[in-house]
Amino acid sequence: MARGLMKRTVCAKSIFELWGHGRSSGELYASLKSYPVDKMLPYLQSDSTYKIHIHTFNKTLTQAEKIKKIDALEFLPFNGKVNLKNPEHVFWILEDYGMDPNNVPEEPIDLYFGRWIADGQRELIESYSVKKRHFIGNTSMDACLSFIMANHGRVKPNDVVFDPFVGTGGLLISSAHFGAYVCGTDIDYNTIHGLGKASRKNQKWRGPDENIRANLRQYGLEKYYLDALVSDSSKTIWRKGMLFDVIITDPPYGIREATRRTGSQKETVKSAERSTENHIFISSSYHLSDIFFDLLKFAAEYLVMGGRLVYWLPIYRPEYTEEIIPRHPCLKLISNCEQMLSSQTSRRLITMEKVKEFKDQDQNSYSLDGQYMPYKGHNSFREKYFSGVTKRIAKEEKDNQK
Ligand SMILES: C[S@@+](CC[C@H](N)C(=O)[O-])C[C@H]1O[C@@H](n2cnc3c(N)ncnc32)[C@H](O)[C@@H]1O
Repeated sequence: MARGLMKRTVCAKSIFELWGHGRSSGELYASLKSYPVDKMLPYLQSDSTYKIHIHTFNKTLTQAEKIKKIDALEFLPFNGKVNLKNPEHVFWILEDYGMDPNNVPEEPIDLYFGRWIADGQRELIESYSVKKRHFIGNTSMDACLSFIMANHGRVKPNDVVFDPFVGTGGLLISSAHFGAYVCGTDIDYNTIHGLGKASRKNQKWRGPDENIRANLRQYGLEKYYLDALVSDSSKTIWRKGMLFDVIITDPPYGIREATRRTGSQKETVKSAERSTENHIFISSSYHLSDIFFDLLKFAAEYLVMGGRLVYWLPIYRPEYTEEIIPRHPCLKLISNCEQMLSSQTSRRLITMEKVKEFKDQDQNSYSLDGQYMPYKGHNSFREKYFSGVTKRIAKEEKDNQK
């Protein structure tokens, strides 16, 4: 189980079987002496090879100091042979010297000793970094968060994963890495077709092959690409039925991209915009409360039973209570984790699971029930966000003048 967990996580570096812990070396040794010998022996056999590694947090030790600490463990019944290059068993001493680099204590505040079991997937954060990605936009999702989202969605091989606000497909990449087939929609014609202005500093226009498919190709994942379509998520284009195993998405909050949906020529002639020579887009504003209401309804209808919806909900922190998390009777809230954006604003990673079959005729009665009504307070997130930013800039300017 531990190995299975570490094959997926980008949050943990390594996992160990803990043999001892103390707040001083004396305490650690006492704790190790009380660890059952029968649990140690299978890893200390005379025909086995081993290595002891020492890792310190917030302090660098000299080689001589390290060796001294390793030698102090000779009371443990190690019978195998030391092999530094390719040992069968690796043991770690972990020493924690706190978090403050300006105030490093002489002795560690916590010491641990254990048998190494597996490493996590932290290297994915670097290898999938947006900095080195072929096709990016202003809101491309950070690689680490994309993997966390795919894990919350429990994405597995051969799943079909859908992102209704796909942008540059940042969230599809992590799902494809775990072997899922991926697809998405976005209202922005230029994004889906890889046209228009580039988001990179030194580049004016997007190049000929800047699109989601090319991103997946960059990581050897092209075979998992189903398609990306230009479509407004408020108007579903899908045939009825349970189509998707997982829906993972980052809806627009109106900060770096507009929240909009398709309008009719009559209602919004003014907001028509020309994306390319033959594509004219007419939009009207799409309130955040409606975006989330529609997203949950869509997930309730189109997810397989037990399938998950994972998305980010922007939050104005002074007004936050659990009641403002959008609900749907077919979806159970699994987790709700905060990522701070500023002292006043954050976004919450919401994970929900489909637990009840969706019935069209029930939808209207659900919609009238208070707990399932859209929370209108979400709509003013943009104003609140920018009033905070404006206040911060004004304060910084004031401080600079002092
Ligand atoms: C936060 S971005 C998603 C970024 C994406 N996760 C990525 O890695 O590039 C939100 C996206 O939603 C799109 N969008 C806005 N309104 C939409 C709508 N009504 N239907 C579909 N997409 C919409 C925007 O064009 C934008 O690309």
